[in-house]
Amino acid sequence: GWNMENILDEEIKVINDTVGPEEHVICALSGGVDSTVAATLVHKAIGDRLHCVFVDNGLLRYKERERVMETFENPEMKRKIIGKEFISIFDAFAHELEKKLGRKPTYLVQGTLYPDVIESCPPPGSGKTCSHTIKSHHNVGGLPKDMKLKLIEPLKLLFKDEVRQLGRILNVPDAFLKRHPFPGPGLAVRVLGDVTEGNALDILRQVDEIFIQAIKDAGLYDSIWQAFAVFLPIRSVGVQGDQRTHSHVVALRAVTSQDGMTADWYYFEHKFLDDVARKICNSVRGVNRVVQDITSKPPSTIEWE
Ligand code: XMP
Repeated sequence: GWNMENILDEEIKVINDTVGPEEHVICALSGGVDSTVAATLVHKAIGDRLHCVFVDNGLLRYKERERVMETFENPEMKRKIIGKEFISIFDAFAHELEKKLGRKPTYLVQGTLYPDVIESCPPPGSGKTCSHTIKSHHNVGGLPKDMKLKLIEPLKLLFKDEVRQLGRILNVPDAFLKRHPFPGPGLAVRVLGDVTEGNALDILRQVDEIFIQAIKDAGLYDSIWQAFAVFLPIRSVGVQGDQRTHSHVVALRAVTSQDGMTADWYYFEHKFLDDVARKICNSVRGVNRVVQDITSKPPSTIEWE
């Protein structure tokens, strides 16, 4: 039957049938739910022949102005560029391992989920076209064609709530399982347009931290699927003291959802929103306006890009 224990046994079997007894595997680990559960599962199957790599991209690469700015303005391009960066890091990691182990790792484990695959249609390399690409998730449509490692994606047929169930069976700690989803391309898809704009990433980190901390303090974190801030590529007029300001606008987004395929925007109490907005404008330099996103998915998506 289609229950989690069976899926777990089945996936472990698939991995053991796929990866030869001498073969090594590397895993892209973000610390989030999906890749953590995927890694735990693969580790259960092949033990120490799994080598995990965590990429702290810090998004620094975007500060490299020489990258064609226009490409950053296209969300699909952002995802492709990031997918490519990830893979070149994994290739380098694989190369280091080869020196250590005397053989190349053959496979790459990723925590790809079913919705990533559906929304990234067409499947990469399939040669098919598709009328409904919503987003090429960085780990699906964003992967370069010349990648040398073969993919292992044990969660590919599961939705997030199912991954959490599976993680529970694997004794993955709640701290991982309850974490809000965070997209692979990171804050790049939350800075609309040019990621290199001013100190957008810096502002976004500060705003996000205030918002998430307030949500945790109010005991709301576990009732929300995902909450974050978006940096808008516009400035608006404000007043601080007796000074006119012309500063950035940030949007707050929080949604509830079962699986990320559809979502409802979350109703905060007015007092909560008021406190958060004041705190942001008072403590984050360069922000003088806070707005809230009150659309659901559909018609919007959860992220803004
Ligand atoms: P959307 O914005 O498509 O997002 O409604 C649905 C869920 O997927 C996450 N998301 C991504 N995750 N790579 C990822 O790993 C991506 O390219 C990507 N795009 C969106 C999003 O945060 C939400 O949880």
